[in-house]
Amino acid sequence: MKDIPKNDIVSEINILKKEKNAIILAHYYQTGDIQDIADFVGDSLALSQKAAANYADIILFAGVKFMAETAKILSPSKKVLLPDMEAGCSLADSCNEADFRKFIEDNKGRTVITYVNTNTEIKALSDIVCTSSNAVRIVESLPPGEKIIFGPDRNLGNYILNQTGRDILVWDGACHVHEEFSLEAILDLKEKNPDAKIIVHPECELPVRMTADFIGSTSALLKFTKTDSANKYIVGTEPGIIHQMKRESPSKIFIPAPPRDSTCGCSECNFMKLITIEKIHKCLVEEKPEIIIEEKILLKAVKPIRRMLEISEKLGL
Ligand code: 13P
Ligand code: SF4
Repeated sequence: MKDIPKNDIVSEINILKKEKNAIILAHYYQTGDIQDIADFVGDSLALSQKAAANYADIILFAGVKFMAETAKILSPSKKVLLPDMEAGCSLADSCNEADFRKFIEDNKGRTVITYVNTNTEIKALSDIVCTSSNAVRIVESLPPGEKIIFGPDRNLGNYILNQTGRDILVWDGACHVHEEFSLEAILDLKEKNPDAKIIVHPECELPVRMTADFIGSTSALLKFTKTDSANKYIVGTEPGIIHQMKRESPSKIFIPAPPRDSTCGCSECNFMKLITIEKIHKCLVEEKPEIIIEEKILLKAVKPIRRMLEISEKLGL
């Protein structure tokens, strides 16, 4: 395909969306230019709610594969496109089907709650799916004596365990982005910016979470910066969210928390950043790559996701 100037690409994307009755759903970790052309920008929970209820024929997902798969599972009759199939997730890949199945079998009688950041096979083994927005509330909605398995994120799992005091066995998986934040660099930044509040995602490790003034999902962090009285924040999650934070609070200052590897300087998710405006355009023109999921596994995976959406609706989330 020939190179097209950026403004023309954006206009063409808008025309293609109308012609094909397509919508673009984008996660907060996408680059600002992608967030700006999306029909809807949100966290994992809001995006799955949007994927379950919309009138489009095509959903183009600007995010990673497990998010596009969740959209397909919830809307199997729609064409779901992901502009780059290599946009995976280190956290989802830290939980493979055979090992997780054995973990469940070795710990029979426990309710299996999995974070939405999993491959479809893991969802199919689960009783309830959750996101970082509703994880604590979903666990609290279960009877107090219910024993739980939580996977795959060990940091989110331990955070939920500490918040709820429930009997939870936590799978030992992690996200390479959120585990890379440097405690020393964050404390150093705080010393230089004593007026800044530290806000972090629950996928961060415990020592980093312990420094935080506020812990929450991407949408909770965004809401906090809108309503809180401080003017400066050290942000411990993928810096794509700062685009929306600046938009909602233009006069405030947002400092991305640094990773351990100081040669990189930022904590971008390399998977999320595989998606570009150019790939979105090509994907809309060609209507591929398309997410295809075998019906048998889709029908199993949809149940725990629907259960999450039902509980979230009841809880007003
Ligand atoms: P959210 O649930 O906050 O959208 O987070 C998704 C994610 O991938 C975190 O790394
Ligand atoms: Fe996966 Fe981590 Fe990237 Fe989120 S930030 S998509 S959990 S690798």
